[in-house]
Amino acid sequence: MRKAAVLGSNDHNPSNMSSPPPQFDYNSGRQTPHMLGSNTEKPLIIDMGTQSIKIGYSELSSGDRFPSMMIPTLVGYPKLTKSAISSSLLRDDQTFVGIEALKRSPLLSLKYPIEHGIILDWEEINLLLDHAVLQCMKLNFSQLNSGLMMTEAPLNPKKNREKMTQLVFEQYQVPKFQISMQSLNAIYAEGMHSGLVLECGEGISTCVPVVEGYVLSHAITRMDIGGRDINEYLMDLLKNKVVFNTTFEREFARDIKEQSCQIKTNSALINHNTFTPDRKKYSLPDGKTIEIHNEQYDAPEILFNDSLIGRDGEGLQHLVIKALDKCEIDARKTLTQNLVIAGGTSMLRGFSERLQTELISLNEKEDKPYNSFNIIEKPYRRYISWIGASILASLSSFQPKWITKNEYEEHGVSIIHKKSMIQ
Ligand SMILES: Nc1ncnc2c1ncn2[C@@H]1O[C@H](COP(=O)(O)OP(=O)(O)OP(=O)(O)O)[C@@H](O)[C@H]1O
Ligand SMILES: [Mg+2]
Repeated sequence: MRKAAVLGSNDHNPSNMSSPPPQFDYNSGRQTPHMLGSNTEKPLIIDMGTQSIKIGYSELSSGDRFPSMMIPTLVGYPKLTKSAISSSLLRDDQTFVGIEALKRSPLLSLKYPIEHGIILDWEEINLLLDHAVLQCMKLNFSQLNSGLMMTEAPLNPKKNREKMTQLVFEQYQVPKFQISMQSLNAIYAEGMHSGLVLECGEGISTCVPVVEGYVLSHAITRMDIGGRDINEYLMDLLKNKVVFNTTFEREFARDIKEQSCQIKTNSALINHNTFTPDRKKYSLPDGKTIEIHNEQYDAPEILFNDSLIGRDGEGLQHLVIKALDKCEIDARKTLTQNLVIAGGTSMLRGFSERLQTELISLNEKEDKPYNSFNIIEKPYRRYISWIGASILASLSSFQPKWITKNEYEEHGVSIIHKKSMIQ
């Protein structure tokens, strides 16, 4: 069992959210930042995601509960085509990160340094963090006297946690630091102590049981499927209508998905017999228009049946049932009645309705004891991990959990395990 920081019941009011969530626009590279500039009285929260890094100041009791910025987790290197060089748009030694990479993406070869929620390329993460904190938030790491809180995916390797700790203290000279688990943050965001968090983001889906503030780590389930896999499958389904070659073009598949895709929610749709979906039109940047037909419903099906993309024939419903199976019988009722949905992919229309149907059906098919599920689906669920970390970092009960630079110097990287909120 993993021990987590305990949340007081009246510490915050999760419904108190006033500002709109941040957006980035793939076409123009525009962002809608707010609350920028030095504000070293509040902890800075960075939620590290496979698609985007969400960043902003911690808030406990009022005001702004969304991250100030969402920065694409992208690094771009010049492709060095003749046209790019001769037009002097780029130098061969330039590197672009985040939104800057996205804006120039036709000229760049793009890399995603986080895969399936896990950091793979530390140099690139370094560039992204510099960009996010120094350039976007206009802060120096060493000024973060109130603390820097970063998030990690469930089952993040211990060595990655150590490496991040080393990076922030040695290279960035951060005065106070901590790492919190993304799914546990969702529980904090809801002001709950127990719940089952199903998080479905860009590169990973996880199901994490939390009982009385403790993460049941032995019962965590995960599958490497997320929004990016839906993009890939959608591109495959659309290949007779349009071929997406470059990373830049592939980002339009994401846009088509977010605008057009939805999840089949009733048996007519699921079985595809008596169903004729509306045709939707989508304009590509080159002026061509394509019609999206069955693909809008077929692409997200991989969430509930991964054999469509050559995997084991499982889906999100299996993640939930398997996680419950691994929990103590006494905890199961609370968990099934508090199933919290999180992550950007859960924004797909029909997500929780279909999940409910699949859970009931799998329960019957496998003769399991889980008869009903209460799904908690908040409008801010894409940002829920950041929001929960933001609340946690300002709680008075959390303050002794910060790791200070002095403690790091005394104990070395092992301090992140000693003072970890997740043992
Ligand atoms: N309205 C929407 N409809 C469908 N998909 C959406 C919507 N909004 C966001 N997404 C998808 O959600 C995914 C990003 O989710 P999220 O921000 O939770 O991921 P992340 O934190 O970057 O990655 P991860 O948690 O997997 O490491 C993308 O695939 C994006 O296309
Ligand atoms: Mg995430």
